[in-house]
This record gives sequence, C-alpha cells and structure tokens, in this order.
Amino acid sequence: MVLLRSLIAAAILTQTALALTPVGHTPSGAPIYEAPFGSRVLQVGRDMKVFAPNGTVIHTFANAVPQSSTSAPIRRQVLSDAAASVQLTNTSDLLESLNTTIVVPPPPTTFNSQLMWVAGSIKIPGNDGVPFASLRAVLQYGATAIQGGPFWTIAAQLELLPDGGLLQISRPGFDPTVSAGTSISTSVVHTDEGDGVFWYIAAFDNIPGSSNIQVGFQMPASGAVIGMEEEGVFQSSEYPAEPLTFANTSLKLTSGFPDIMWDTSSDSVSGAYVTVDKDGSEDAEITIHF
Ligand SMILES: *[C@@H]1O[C@H](CO)[C@@H](O)[C@H](O)[C@H]1NC(C)=O
Ligand SMILES: *[C@@H]1O[C@H](CO)[C@@H](O)[C@H](O)[C@H]1NC(C)=O
Ligand SMILES: *[C@@H]1O[C@H](CO)[C@@H](O)[C@H](O)[C@H]1NC(C)=O
Ligand SMILES: *[C@@H]1O[C@H](CO)[C@@H](O)[C@H](O)[C@H]1NC(C)=O
Repeated sequence: MVLLRSLIAAAILTQTALALTPVGHTPSGAPIYEAPFGSRVLQVGRDMKVFAPNGTVIHTFANAVPQSSTSAPIRRQVLSDAAASVQLTNTSDLLESLNTTIVVPPPPTTFNSQLMWVAGSIKIPGNDGVPFASLRAVLQYGATAIQGGPFWTIAAQLELLPDGGLLQISRPGFDPTVSAGTSISTSVVHTDEGDGVFWYIAAFDNIPGSSNIQVGFQMPASGAVIGMEEEGVFQSSEYPAEPLTFANTSLKLTSGFPDIMWDTSSDSVSGAYVTVDKDGSEDAEITIHF
C-alpha cells in the first residue's frame, strides 16, 4: 500500500515535471503554451510530444491526432476565418515551401480582447484525412498571454484543432512586437531528415533574431492556407481599418510550381473576406478585406 502510494506520487510528480503550464487561454478557452527556443514537436502515434533542445519531453498533447473519421471535425463556435487555400491531394507531389510577405497594418481602433492571426500556414491531416494541426509563422493582434495586448506581435506557432490549444516557441531577449508598416516575410518549409517523418519549419525570413518552430508529422501537409483566423471580433472597428495584402506568395511542390487556383472562404460572423488579386503558385497576391 505504502509502496503503491509512493509509486503514484512519483508518477504524479513525473507528470507534473513533464507538462508545461498554459501561459494563458484564447477567448474560446483553448490553452496557450510556450516552449523554449530550439524545442521541436513530434507526432508519436496520436500524441504530439514537445522536446526541449536537450531532448527531454517537456509536454505531451495527448490524443491530439484524431483516430478515425467517426470523429467529425467540430467547428469552434467563436473562431472564423477569411482565407484563400489550396488542397494538396497528390501524395507523390508534396509541399516543399509556402512563402509570403505582408506589411503590418495599423492596429484596430477598438481593443476588446479579440485575437487575430494572419499567416501563410499549412494544415496537417490525421489518419482520417481531417486536418488537426496548423503550422505557421504568424502576425497576431490581441490578447495572447505572451506579450499580448492591443498591438501586433509575431509568433512561431503550432495550432491544434479544433480546441487542442496553441504552442508558441519564444526566443529569449527577442521583442516580438512589430509596428505598422513593417514588412514581414514568412515561410513554411519541408525538411527531409531521412527518418520518414514529414518535418516542417515555420519561420520569419527577414526578421533577425526571431523565433521559429519545427514540427514532425506522420502525414504530409494536405493544405496551404493564406489568410486570417480570429476569435472575438464583433464589430468592424475591432479589425484593422485597411486591407492587408499577402504579396509575392509562392507555393512550391516536389515537382516545382504547380498550376493552381486559390479557393476563397469568408468570415460569416464578421463579414471579412479575401480576394485573389493574382492567382497561381508563383508571385501570387491575396488580400484580406475587413
Ligand atoms: C532539459 O531541458 C528542460 C527544459 O529546458 C529542463 O527542464 C531540464 O532540466 C533539462 N534536462 C537536463 C537533463 O538537462
Ligand atoms: C501527381 O504528381 C506526380 C509527380 O509530379 C505526377 O506525375 C502525377 O501526374 C500527379 N498525379 C495527379 C493525379 O495529378
Ligand atoms: C521560401 O523561403 C525559404 C526560407 O527562407 C527559402 O529557402 C526558399 O527559397 C523560399 N522559396 C521560394 C519559392 O521563394
Ligand atoms: C519574391 O520572392 C523571391 C523568392 O523569395 C525573391 O527572390 C524576390 O525578390 C521577391 N520579389 C519581390 C518583388 O519581393
């Protein structure tokens, strides 16, 4: 009995030691975690494990990967998006890179704890084909726990869908705030490490000293998305007053630059929408209208 009790106590201690504590929550309640710079995330079965730079597992998102198609994707109630996307269905022609450049717009005039994420991101499917993860180097506005407030910041981020939470990798000494007018080039690039894992790294290419995030999945990216996700926007003054353009957007596959057209979706809650000003996989231009 005593032995069992101490074993349980040890197990609890170990678990505590191996889990990050949320640094905050999104308006819909999804936890936000922060891991040290150089940490990597790897899909192991149905779990997403966060490895510190020294190889220690510091956090496990248990059962983050959906098991089968019986678990239909649940839309978050307060999350909506305005985006242009491309589905990648050819498993012998995979995503190599998604690059884009944005200019930080003036911040919204009203701050009401809303959160906005603007990014070129990739979506990763579980075994059932339903995306469960989104990887991105993101421009974010609003109430995130890490340096959050009524201003813009940049973050290297893994989002687990539909409500699994967000993991950000922060870099000590780096100030993530960015001001209106700053040009930000981001990329999500596939890296082949010869281990059968689909590794992707999301980074800010023109911001020295900024963070990045590398994540390994069992399935390749099934979609590329350019656009905005938001939580908690209820009126137009909670958006930037000006449109935001993704310029010089490129989507490269194994075979090179494919012949594609971007599909668009609009935010049914707030009315934000996107236009494809210049289509294709090279030097495409996509604009969010708020
Ligand atoms: C490995 O890194 C983690 C996170 O920084 C730290 O908590 C842990 O003590 C380190 N372990 C060793 C053996 O250095
Ligand atoms: C898939 O990609 C390969 C390699 O680029 C190409 O040869 C093949 O025709 C593609 N299949 C389809 C259905 O587009
Ligand atoms: C995308 O960005 C990566 C990282 O900076 C770079 O290596 C690659 O050449 C870029 N790809 C394109 C098509 O511009
Ligand atoms: C577009 O991106 C490519 C590759 O990243 C770069 O070589 C080129 O200079 C960029 N063009 C503009 C207009 O920014």
